[in-house]
Amino acid sequence: MKIIVGITGGIAAYKAPELVRLLKKAGHEVRCAATEHALEFVTRVTLETVSGAPLYSDLFASGRTEHISLKDWGEMLVVAPATANIIGKVASGIADDALSTLLLAFSGKPVVMAPAMNCEMWAHPAVQRNVETLKSWGIRMVGPAEGELACGVSGVGRMAEPQQIVDAIGEGATLKLNGERWLVTAGPTYERIDSVRFIGNYSSGKMGFALAEALAGAGAKVELVTGPTSLNAANPHIHLIRVESAREMYAAATEVFPRCHGAILSAAVADYRPAECADHKLKKNGSEGMTLELVQNPDILATLGGMKHEGQTLVGFALETDNEEANAQRKLEKKNLDYIVLNSLRDKGAGFGVDTNKVYIIGRDGSCTESPLLSKQEVAQLIINTVTT
Ligand code: C5P
Repeated sequence: MKIIVGITGGIAAYKAPELVRLLKKAGHEVRCAATEHALEFVTRVTLETVSGAPLYSDLFASGRTEHISLKDWGEMLVVAPATANIIGKVASGIADDALSTLLLAFSGKPVVMAPAMNCEMWAHPAVQRNVETLKSWGIRMVGPAEGELACGVSGVGRMAEPQQIVDAIGEGATLKLNGERWLVTAGPTYERIDSVRFIGNYSSGKMGFALAEALAGAGAKVELVTGPTSLNAANPHIHLIRVESAREMYAAATEVFPRCHGAILSAAVADYRPAECADHKLKKNGSEGMTLELVQNPDILATLGGMKHEGQTLVGFALETDNEEANAQRKLEKKNLDYIVLNSLRDKGAGFGVDTNKVYIIGRDGSCTESPLLSKQEVAQLIINTVTT
């Protein structure tokens, strides 16, 4: 594989030549890109000698657009060490030197970072927030490890050992879902009552967006059909289809499903909609109450279960309050699913609106994978790992 090793200015930069050497030994072609600060710790001559290629470190050298030609050349970008500074820059979209510009231009291809910094810096909420942002875009973090730091204290902040980074790259080298297309549904649906009112629910769309990001991070092209939400997809391999009602979601999902390897339906779809939608704002009519007649919406998941052909994987969600596992298992069979992800409302911190979730992933074969309380990004990763093996 063609790998670009990006080096930033931390003491662990002295391990970068060893990383380059191990990558070459493992059969990869390597080029290096370094920040100005990195070159205070490791020299240009060393990096050019071990990689066998010119170092990229000057954005303006002879007016070339090397960040573009290098991003076209590279199949993976590994930043080791990654300082708090480069992590913050990428999270904010700042491109003010050779490496940060290359990182922004590299979107859509796999990026791995090996953070290294003082333990207090690593624990800082700004750094943790930035790391979470990068992870949600599919950037993989290797380390940092716990141990003695250059500043004399002990804690979490040591760069992962070069061999560990090489092993992690090996795992990501063949992106598991390369060439596959997946459908994800997300968010709530709004069912119109009149021109200004609707029936909706509290779904934020966070779980579905995290699933789409995890699928795209594993190399898939994703059709993300979402109900109303303020969220946006970061990965360019996610094609967003915004809809409002269950019937619109049904139309979009049934249209794309035949072209997909699989579908994960996490949307909170309204089971019923008003029988009629007034084209004006309904007025109080003087009576004490009002009766709204509701009719059933199509069940998207059950429809896709009926359309499913050999080789397609279909995953549904179930939000249950009692008899959880038995109900979920029944739903899995009735709707012809391969997996059902059970959210139990009994679990604190799981479900609607929150950033965390705790799930049980039940397979058609009776297998059950239970997660601890994790961030929705981590839950998404676990679901993808389970349903794509
Ligand atoms: O049957 P129940 O509504 O509990 O099933 C939930 C699962 O079915 C979720 O995966 C949800 O996205 C999907 N669903 C659907 N269309 C509906 C209702 C639910 O796709 N009309």
